[in-house]
Amino acid sequence: MNIDSIVIRRTRVTDLPSLIDCLNPVFLERRYLAITEAIPVGEALNYHATHILAGHPHFVALEGECVVGLCDAVPAAAPRIAALAHVGTLGMLLSPDYRGRGLGERLLRTTLAACKGRWERIELNVYSHNERAHQLYLRCGFIEDGRRIGAWKLDGVTSDIIAMSIFL
Ligand SMILES: CC(C)(COP(=O)(O)OP(=O)(O)OC[C@H]1O[C@@H](n2cnc3c(N)ncnc32)[C@H](O)[C@@H]1OP(=O)(O)O)[C@@H](O)C(=O)NCCC(=O)NCCS
Repeated sequence: MNIDSIVIRRTRVTDLPSLIDCLNPVFLERRYLAITEAIPVGEALNYHATHILAGHPHFVALEGECVVGLCDAVPAAAPRIAALAHVGTLGMLLSPDYRGRGLGERLLRTTLAACKGRWERIELNVYSHNERAHQLYLRCGFIEDGRRIGAWKLDGVTSDIIAMSIFL
């Protein structure tokens, strides 16, 4: 597989079955994401379709027709919380075979560019054992807002939850 042939583009509703096949195994890794179990297909379809149709930045990495990665940003709070209307929350993942080759950076930079003009500040949480993600965010301009020491504990591993943000 040639990593340069991977296409990054806005997610279409027709991508969602493949996207769900991509994300559930990453949840089941139980290492990197808050969710640690497979999400029922209907629930995942509804969640992602809602954000795509709302026009929120939502990008996939595709090998052919197959989704191998995802990066999206959603409002950080409900619409009635006016003081947070300038803030978005970002999430991303790649299938294991596609990590460590620069694809995450392409996906993140594309999504951040699409966030410009929509939100002023983008936030995320990363676990301190996830050094690759932490380094990627620092390289792309995120700063650390703070750490919740020892707040993540699963499968015998304890880590800090690092809050990060970037002003666009
Ligand atoms: C976090 C994640 C999205 C980062 O994506 P990624 O593609 O692995 O990361 P990067 O784009 O930063 O690539 C970094 C690696 O690619 C290498 N790289 C960068 N550009 C490259 C290029 N053009 N060609 C080949 N390799 C390249 C770097 O040397 C680096 O290698 P290293 O990690 O072994 O030091 C991905 O690893 C992932 O999905 N992890 C599991 C889920 C997860 O952690 N999500 C985020 C939760 S906060």
